[in-house]
Amino acid sequence: MEPIIEFRSITKSYGDFKVLDNVTLGIEKGTIFGLLGPNGAGKSTLIKILSCQSRPSSGHAYISGLDVVSDKKEVLSIIGVVPQENSFYDELTINENLKFFGSLYRIRPIEIKKRSHKILALLKLDEKSDTRANNLSGGMKTRLNIACALIHKPEVLILDEPSVGLDPVSRKALWETIRVVNNEGTTILLTTHYMEEADLLCDRILIMNRGRIVIEGKQEELKKKVGETMILITSSPGNYHVLKGEVESLGNISCSFSDKGLKIILTGQMQLHNIFDVFESHEEKIITVESSTTSLEDVFIHASGEEWH
Ligand SMILES: Nc1ncnc2c1ncn2[C@@H]1O[C@H](COP(=O)(O)OP(=O)(O)O)[C@@H](O)[C@H]1O
Ligand SMILES: [Mg+2]
Repeated sequence: MEPIIEFRSITKSYGDFKVLDNVTLGIEKGTIFGLLGPNGAGKSTLIKILSCQSRPSSGHAYISGLDVVSDKKEVLSIIGVVPQENSFYDELTINENLKFFGSLYRIRPIEIKKRSHKILALLKLDEKSDTRANNLSGGMKTRLNIACALIHKPEVLILDEPSVGLDPVSRKALWETIRVVNNEGTTILLTTHYMEEADLLCDRILIMNRGRIVIEGKQEELKKKVGETMILITSSPGNYHVLKGEVESLGNISCSFSDKGLKIILTGQMQLHNIFDVFESHEEKIITVESSTTSLEDVFIHASGEEWH
């Protein structure tokens, strides 16, 4: 399948500082794609380039085959961007806001009316169409912010950290709205630093760190690549940095440690007693052993070699 979004060797520098370093990525039409990474990874910079708000230092980005630099006008007509801050006017009603945003795209009033009707039904705002925006609930405001970005029927909807500042219930409601929009055929590209959001909402994810791609794929594939079983062992006195090296030398294992203990990801068959022997030989008394399936955090740590910060 042809990708609808393509980044080809995108680099962005500010002076000597490379914020993005040779990012190449294709995103298939119809997906909910998540750019996941810690703060400062370069997520916002990447989507600013895609939405024509910033130019790459080198490389190209395309949406539906259109170059974001040379075909800027056409690109802006097929993308919707949901900013972090609400973009609508508080003192206007929902309908008036959509009318305003529609007019920015030079859509005919009759079309705006039809389109508004459909979007408001889709986002469950239809009963509030004549309510002033500042009288809406928090969840409704979030949906109105998205509605404003949909008025011109974009092929791609881009959201930068859409759930920052939302409580868990509103966050789930936002995910539901994003799924509804996606079900209508809109490709979704969003950034997030919430692992859970990337895991539960997105079809595929790209993990970034320090301007570079760490790993890309479906969440289950990424977890499988890293290893399917994770065990956390706490011991006393807990010299985990020493244990890490020794356990890793057993092979088919990668480890990381924190104050919580030694996290071990098994990538193949491993006899647990071999691991316990290492602890014993260092006179480490095992206190607890917990096992779980790998998380995206484990994927990040083991693919980037760094802690998620
Ligand atoms: N206009 C700018 N000038 C200099 N540095 C910038 C600018 N914009 C972003 N950066 C730096 O680029 C890095 C990536 O930023 P950003 O794309 O906002 O990351 P993220 O969205 O993943 O948190 C950060 O270290 C940030 O300080
Ligand atoms: Mg950001």
